[in-house]
Amino acid sequence: MSPSDDLAEPVDPLDAALKLLGHDAFRPGQRESIEVLLSAGRLVLIAPTGGGKSLCFQLPALLLPGTALVVSPLIALMHDQVHALDALGLPSTYLASTLPGPEVSARMAALARGEYKIVYIAPERLSAPGFREIIRKIPISLIAIDEAHCIAEWGHDFRPEYLQIGELLAEFPRARILACTATATPVVRDEILGRLGLPASTPQIIRGFARPNLALRVHEVEDARDRQRAVDAQLAEALGEPPKVPAGRRPLLDRPAAIVYAPTRRDTEEEQARLARLGWRVLAYHAGLDPAQRERAQRAFTARELDVVVATNAFGMGIDRADVRAVIHLAPPGSIEAYYQEVGRAGRDGAPAFGLLLFSARDLPLRRRLLERPTDDGPPDPRIVEHKWGLFLELMRWAEGGSCRHDAILRYFGDEGEALGGCGRCDVCVSLDSDDDDDDDDVTLIVRKALSAVARIDRRFGLQAAVNLLKGLDDPRLSRCGLDQTPTFGCLREHDPVWLMRLLRRCITAGWVDFSGDERPVAIITDAGRRVMRAESPARLMLPPRARAAAPRSRGDRGDRDRAAKPPPERLDPAAERVFDALRAHRMEVARGEGVPPYVIASDRSLREVALLRPRTLDELKLAHGIGPTKVERYGAGLLAVVRACG
Ligand SMILES: Nc1ncnc2c1ncn2[C@@H]1O[C@H](COP(=O)(O)OP(=O)(O)OP(=O)(O)O)[C@@H](O)[C@H]1O
Ligand SMILES: [Mg+2]
Ligand SMILES: [Zn+2]
Repeated sequence: MSPSDDLAEPVDPLDAALKLLGHDAFRPGQRESIEVLLSAGRLVLIAPTGGGKSLCFQLPALLLPGTALVVSPLIALMHDQVHALDALGLPSTYLASTLPGPEVSARMAALARGEYKIVYIAPERLSAPGFREIIRKIPISLIAIDEAHCIAEWGHDFRPEYLQIGELLAEFPRARILACTATATPVVRDEILGRLGLPASTPQIIRGFARPNLALRVHEVEDARDRQRAVDAQLAEALGEPPKVPAGRRPLLDRPAAIVYAPTRRDTEEEQARLARLGWRVLAYHAGLDPAQRERAQRAFTARELDVVVATNAFGMGIDRADVRAVIHLAPPGSIEAYYQEVGRAGRDGAPAFGLLLFSARDLPLRRRLLERPTDDGPPDPRIVEHKWGLFLELMRWAEGGSCRHDAILRYFGDEGEALGGCGRCDVCVSLDSDDDDDDDDVTLIVRKALSAVARIDRRFGLQAAVNLLKGLDDPRLSRCGLDQTPTFGCLREHDPVWLMRLLRRCITAGWVDFSGDERPVAIITDAGRRVMRAESPARLMLPPRARAAAPRSRGDRGDRDRAAKPPPERLDPAAERVFDALRAHRMEVARGEGVPPYVIASDRSLREVALLRPRTLDELKLAHGIGPTKVERYGAGLLAVVRACG
């Protein structure tokens, strides 16, 4: 019985095709991607590993008349996907040099007869004799370029054979084109478009990078002891007490796990030994171990015979454990991409999990040395060293923090659509909400002054000029344009220039300041920055620590734990307590409705003050801590109604 014989219920062709492919529902972004691809004919799709990108070419391939080509560098994966499609009854195949010659010929002949809906090809195939002639003669519905970042010469996975793809696309102007990758940085995206010969206006969909269940934290450590303390505290918070039984005896089904990433093989083994002494069931994993040992570690981890694996970045591929509750880095990896991929192994089940990144002052020179180290092919290309160094500095800037860690990553990836306006879980959000740092009004004023300096030098000078302007220093660049006569000149003169520079850097991470220009980058203020400057949106920023001499506060472990232990600042009388509870319930409802974390609506402290004040008018409401004009306008009426209802 065909679907149309069924009852009158109209069947959406995408839903029907999805069922054929064996799935019940689209994942977020999949339907949208397919619709854009079908209507616009072109799409760059960026979603993280395991996000379900394959479906976005398999489904259109099924719907469209003709044969779809999928270019992919991963032969093992082609084999699996073709196998799965065959099982679903979808005629498909792959062509790779690993196949015996006669088999390739047979598949090419079937391709020429138009027998396949989907053909996976390794990029080398594009230059193989006969292949182009065949595909020129059959209708090609779609060309999908999987792992499209392989075309980016400076990406981490460059494949020269990918460079031929642009030429191929030019030959098939009528085919739909989909480029898929999990690498989302703007530079790589631009390079993908350029090398594929796609216009800058090509639609791009970036989805699925948000992992709001991860509580991200960064902690600067002083020395080895400090690092150990941080690791132990994080493991205790995520896993509880060590089980104190030997590794590999029998699985403990109710115990979650953690991964500790170490920079070198030696660190891996040292930390493994230390954690084992503490009673953790732990093994080391790195590329120097023989394959049998590696496999044993991986299997024991999956079989829940281990609590912790201490590993170099070699560990991770194919880890199939959704209940990893913490990923701890003893030292920073090479880039934000690498970090996010590794930390993303925590909390795959969607339940709360932690990501703790430890770093120390040593890590910068160490990384530099690592990058400059000659390989078997001689010294590395200096351009590539600089490029990688830049990626590492981005990670260090992110570590420096200042604004929500989660949102900063999404901004870095270009996935603004999923930004939360503060995740409410990361160390920065927790600290911003705990109010014990700087007074909100002070922060707002300082940030607005800093941004006004950037606005004044906008597109003319670099950040140092903005620092000089804020500090009120003699600078011919400033005097030439009369900027030394403006009220901004010296408006933050009480601060140290180094501190001012750090402040401006944080404004970059927050997305308020950016750079433009190739040779000599000049600072610009972004639209978001202008809104903050004009007090149209809040200045959610953690100021850089003031005194460099003071020991860095352990941002990592002064987290929810301390906060949970801390008694509420003011005890409320029972009546106020009732109002407070009602306000919190109301806040939760509003937050759900707006899809934001509750504290974005109002902090606990604000609600507590509202409960004490019992305001009757919007003006009275403004007296509560943290309730400014914007909040009053948005949420004021609702809050007052709750207070009124409590009598
Ligand atoms: N709508 C869906 N419902 C259920 N499962 C899905 C859906 N879409 C994809 N999957 C499954 O998710 C898994 C990962 O999908 P896929 O291999 O396409 O990821 P990917 O985005 O290509 O990741 P990578 O970057 O690693 O290549 C597969 O097992 C796939 O069957
Ligand atoms: Mg894929
Ligand atoms: Zn956050």
